[in-house]
Amino acid sequence: QKLSSGSVSWQSPSNIALVKYWGKYGEQLPMNSSISFSLKNSHTNTTMFFEPKSSGEFEFKVFLDGKREASFEPKILKFFKRIEKYISFLRDYKFRIETSNSFPHSSGIASSASGMSALALCLVDMEHRLHSDPGGQPSLSEAEMQKASFLARLGSGSACRSLQGPIIVWGEHPEIEGSSNLYGTQYKFQVHEIFHNYQDTILLVDKGEKQVSSSIGHELMHNHPFAKQRFEQAGFNLSKLIPVLKNGDVTEFIKIIESEALSLHAMMMTSMPYFILMKPNTLEILNRIWAFREETGSKVCFTLDAGANVHVLYPEAEKGSVLNFISTELSQFCKNNEFIVDEVGFGAVKK
Ligand code: PMV
Repeated sequence: QKLSSGSVSWQSPSNIALVKYWGKYGEQLPMNSSISFSLKNSHTNTTMFFEPKSSGEFEFKVFLDGKREASFEPKILKFFKRIEKYISFLRDYKFRIETSNSFPHSSGIASSASGMSALALCLVDMEHRLHSDPGGQPSLSEAEMQKASFLARLGSGSACRSLQGPIIVWGEHPEIEGSSNLYGTQYKFQVHEIFHNYQDTILLVDKGEKQVSSSIGHELMHNHPFAKQRFEQAGFNLSKLIPVLKNGDVTEFIKIIESEALSLHAMMMTSMPYFILMKPNTLEILNRIWAFREETGSKVCFTLDAGANVHVLYPEAEKGSVLNFISTELSQFCKNNEFIVDEVGFGAVKK
């Protein structure tokens, strides 16, 4: 049985890790558990057009903002080969994958998490249509969402945290029932209201191509002198975060979150070969955030991804004052003074 020509569309958000994933084994399985906020405004929209064909080679083309983007195709081909054993119909259709991001092109915000999540959801949605009765439930079940997260993980590890929201855990953790190395799961414990609409303003310090990719960075955690301690530390930090998310102790939250960001970058600096992804402006911003906190008693803090950009996290009640601080003091350290105002979001939506 085959579907006639048609299309599926999904919008998936980006996510920002609070406890970081850095180091993997096997088929994109994490060496430690991680936890993230799903974002709201930074997302990828993907429409997958499909047309039945006779089985044979994979056939697909990728378009970014309406223009053919052949440079994405080897990555998608690799992804298709990797997931073929879980999605049986990939060779039976010709695909046209149209994708666009809400954030500026090459802003240094990785589109791999939101992009791989949206693509995985399109594929699982197609599978859902293949197997469901006409007139059946159109939305994806919990098991189907789990499968989509599993597939997204095979595209890009942290993408498995970009399907649901507002807080997602990936990687087995003894205190979090149902947590898995295979897919992301919704964080089910109680969360204090201060975190319900937590703000994330992303300062675009450097838009350039990173000198060292995340996949090489993960690789370098094999035989890393501090690997074992780092993986343990991530687990402890997640344990410490559980009561903090519940009681809303933002002072404690800041300590965990900033320490995680700097520990991630410390792993890069102590790899062999070693590397630094922060830029002088990254450090300037971190110092100014610390000074601002000291002077004003603000609860603003930072986190970092594998790059030079800074994610500025703060409670919604401080939005006016922190955005004022960012535009008057911090944006001068961004490329073209650019930053993205975002906040915690609720996950992917079918379009
Ligand atoms: O998903 P990857 O392989 O691009 O790795 C991303 C890892 C970090 O963004 C640095 C941390 C994380 O947990 O998101």
